[in-house]
Amino acid sequence: MSRRKRRIQQRSIERRDAQIGMGERKFRDMSIRISSFMGRFGFEARRIAPNLASGAYLKLQFAMRGHDGDEYCRWFLEQPQIPMPQVVNIETINRCNSTCAFCTANVHAEKRPFRKISDDLYRSIIDQLADWGYGGHLTLYGNNEPLLDTGIVEKHRYAREKLPESFIFMSTNGLLLTLDRIREVQPYIDQLIINNYAEEYKLHDNIRQIYDYVRTHEEEFRDIEIIIQMRYLQEVLTNRAGSSPNKKATEKVYTKTCLLPFTDLWITPNGTVGICCCDNLEVTDFGDVNKTPLREIWEGEKLQAARRAIAQGRDRYPFCKNCDFIDAGFRTAVARAVMDGDQAGANRIGGEGAPARTPCRLPFGKGRRLPCVRRRLSFSLSAP
Ligand SMILES: C[S@@+](CC[C@H](N)C(=O)[O-])C[C@H]1O[C@@H](n2cnc3c(N)ncnc32)[C@H](O)[C@@H]1O
Ligand code: SF4
Ligand code: SF4
Repeated sequence: MSRRKRRIQQRSIERRDAQIGMGERKFRDMSIRISSFMGRFGFEARRIAPNLASGAYLKLQFAMRGHDGDEYCRWFLEQPQIPMPQVVNIETINRCNSTCAFCTANVHAEKRPFRKISDDLYRSIIDQLADWGYGGHLTLYGNNEPLLDTGIVEKHRYAREKLPESFIFMSTNGLLLTLDRIREVQPYIDQLIINNYAEEYKLHDNIRQIYDYVRTHEEEFRDIEIIIQMRYLQEVLTNRAGSSPNKKATEKVYTKTCLLPFTDLWITPNGTVGICCCDNLEVTDFGDVNKTPLREIWEGEKLQAARRAIAQGRDRYPFCKNCDFIDAGFRTAVARAVMDGDQAGANRIGGEGAPARTPCRLPFGKGRRLPCVRRRLSFSLSAP
């Protein structure tokens, strides 16, 4: 590696460490914060002109993603040993109690037969991850509401015990959330994302109570970072390869690459490994964890062949060709850190959806990029 390249890489690591440091300082000072993508203005834009806002959001995100995704795909396929996943998603129950218009799991759109993971299968997955030496991100939810799983705290406890280095985060709609629930789960998770889905820019009563309490009892919650995201219930997001109820996948073909098959291991409650979270109806099937070891599935030829195709562009893989799901933000930041040789830093990047901490690079002419300072698109706000 040339001296110049090494210097650039070193600077990039320092910049990210500074960001992570900032996050940690903030997080020591303040265990809870409220964020909204593009602030109050963004929320209103999504409410008043959902299709327009969705289009603008996708354009912005694809631009911010730059070439990091393409580079990670190439890097991944060039490694002598297939790299580990960066995010393991285990959907422990496939139901939700909310009505988010954009989500395939909303109570009006749900089409899946009810499934809940068996304790044996769950423990076997976690044990296999531990034997594999996994230290990346872990989520015990997928297209569902994790708090509907009555065993979710115990499952987090088990995961924490077996995977002490993993960054475990939970994303919830908060409808069933109480302070006691947070107290129960907080020893086992690093970050709690509460998505306050609502018609108006207003906190639900229970979430406001949680916010007020945590703000005045920071000590009690100093080991966990809680982020409340102001989300519009009727928002239009991505088509998720055709599974989103309020945005159909059209004939439009997308040629961008996609990070998800390279970063994410997606496991449904019955043990099927699918291409990603967009495959809600289990159209793709890369193996059954009940029959095949997890690592064998991740490193198997079937998934590698899909990756090789997607590394050329998502249009090369039939399931993905009309999917406009965007991997910018969290996953791009993780991929960048891994390519910088900083796996430990990658493992500490928070899972919030908004790209607030993304070390971003904007496309700058053909094949060149203009390194730019971090863009803060997700604002920390006072309680609405
Ligand atoms: C499916 S939810 C599961 C966890 C929990 N129920 C929640 O909403 O936080 C996980 C994430 O997927 C996002 N999501 C759902 N439908 C989406 C879509 N059509 N496009 C992009 N993201 C979507 C949600 O907004 C949420 O941030
Ligand atoms: S986004 Fe989350 S809360 Fe909303 S319907 Fe989907 S799974 Fe449920
Ligand atoms: S293109 Fe869409 S469906 Fe395909 S892997 Fe990416 S997110 Fe999943």
